[in-house]
This record gives sequence, structure tokens and C-alpha cells, in this order.
Amino acid sequence: MQRNVRLGYLGFEVRDLSAWEAFAVDVLGLDIGDRGDDWLALRCDDWAQRFLVTQGPSDDVAVLGWEVDDEAALDAALARLRAAGVETTRGSDEEARLRRVERLFKVRDPAGNPCELFFGADRAAAPFHSRHVRSSFVTGAQGLGHVVVSASDPDQSRRFYCDLLGFRLSDRIVCDVYGHPVDITFLHGGPRHHTVAIGGRQRKRIHHFLLEVTGMDDVGLAYDRALRARVRIVLTLGRHPNDRMFSFYAKTPSGFEFEYGWGARTVDDATWMPTTYDHISEWGHHPVAVAGATTTEKTNERTSGTGGAVRGDR
Ligand code: FE2
Repeated sequence: MQRNVRLGYLGFEVRDLSAWEAFAVDVLGLDIGDRGDDWLALRCDDWAQRFLVTQGPSDDVAVLGWEVDDEAALDAALARLRAAGVETTRGSDEEARLRRVERLFKVRDPAGNPCELFFGADRAAAPFHSRHVRSSFVTGAQGLGHVVVSASDPDQSRRFYCDLLGFRLSDRIVCDVYGHPVDITFLHGGPRHHTVAIGGRQRKRIHHFLLEVTGMDDVGLAYDRALRARVRIVLTLGRHPNDRMFSFYAKTPSGFEFEYGWGARTVDDATWMPTTYDHISEWGHHPVAVAGATTTEKTNERTSGTGGAVRGDR
């Protein structure tokens, strides 16, 4: 039987809540759903909340919320986890109320990332409105977006997400990026090309999360807002070969990254054939430091007339 599993919500524990509020609203284009003295709930669609941002010292992801279709799907996933000897803990009614979901269970992935399996998310009373996004965020059957999770043992993490949570292989990218070996496995749990990707160990619990918009201009507009807000752009605009996402990468106020994209293709399990790519981008996605060095050195080369190879221009 086909299993559906989507990224439902993300929880972040952040040092600077007011910086996060400004970043989420004015750069990402999210909307405040609710708030307390030391927390913010953020919306990007008809759900009551998609992000729960709480003041705290870790400056990292606090929870990855994986959505399944219903109670039967949740029970089936729990049975698989318990049979594999993975500890599961039922979330309290208070925790379910805070997450705005019907029922949740807590579990850690092999790298220790805190995960929650849930169903039955609350919908908001009011329609979603973004101050900045002119199109809309791609959610629904594709879920909130995707995450690249930290994995201390990638094989073990792949088995956990595929055999126990129900994800399937989309493809792999194995290549060298600016001198760094890259080996990333992309997994889907529904039509979104990938909902979770596994590379290696990251400094934070995720390398990045993705938000996808339905209008290409909204990627450019977000890029402009990020520049104006002096958010650190990490990778320039580019297009990935596997999901065909047109996107850029930048830092959140907590140091892990976000990807903001448009135009990804979807997966149909009936016809999908996993493959391995030998490059991470069709074009673009250059580290800003390298792109900057190239530009500066090209300028020097032009003005000095020395010619020769340009360091970093690969
Ligand atoms: Fe991504």
C-alpha cells in the first residue's frame, strides 16, 4: 500500500525571537498565526501553524513534524517503529494542543533529531495572507517543503526514513562541489520530489529547509528582500538537476540555511525511476564567497592585464 508522509511542521528554538519575527515576516513572507511572550506561530497556508518558533539557547531545530494521513497510518508507522526497537512516546494533550494537531508521537531519528509523527492539523479560521508573497506557497499534498537532515550514519538514517517512516528513493547526487565531496540521497513520501534528504553530519540538526512558491517572481522578490535585510546569501540563484528547483540559499538568524524556490517537478511512483546525478546544479548555486572572488579577481585581471587562471573560477 502506498504510504504518504509529508513535512507538516517545523519547530525552532531560537536565541533572538525578534530577529526571527522580522526575518520570517519580511524575508520569507510568512504570517504570524499566534504568539506568546516567548514564542511565535507562523503560517504559510490554510493551516493554523506551520512553524513554531520558541525563544531558547540552542538556536537549532527543536522538532521535525511528519504528517501521515490518518490514525490508521499513524498506528501502522508506530507498529513498524516499535518492531524495529525504536522508542516512541505519546505526546501529551497539551503538546498536541500547542502543535495544533489531533494526535502526535515523539521519536528520534538515528542521528538524534527530534521527530514527531502526527495527523489531524487544525486549519485557521482566517485565510492566509502574506505581506510580500504575490503567488502562494506550495503545500497541500506536497507538505510544507523539505529538509536536509543531519545524519551521523547516512545508511542508518536512510533505513529509518524509508523502512520505518515510509519514504521512497527519489535519486542521489554524488559529485564534488568546489573541492567538497557530496553524496546526498533524496527521498519522497508523496508527490513532492523530496521531503527529506540525507547527506552527512551537519553543524545543526538540518542543513536547510525549503519553502517553494508558485510564482517565479516570488523567488526574485525574496532574493531582493534578503539582500535588503542583509541576510547572508550562501548560494546564488541556480537550478538543481534532480527536482529542477530554481532557488537560492541563505542563512536564517539561527545559522542553519533556508532554500527558497520555484518550479520543481513532482514524482509519480507508478513511473518514477531513481537515478544518480553527477552534478548538484544545472547552473548557478555558486557560493557567494567564490562568486565574489571570481568577480574581483576578474576585475584585477582586466585592469592589470596579467591574464592566467583565475583562482576560484571553476
Ligand atoms: Fe533543498
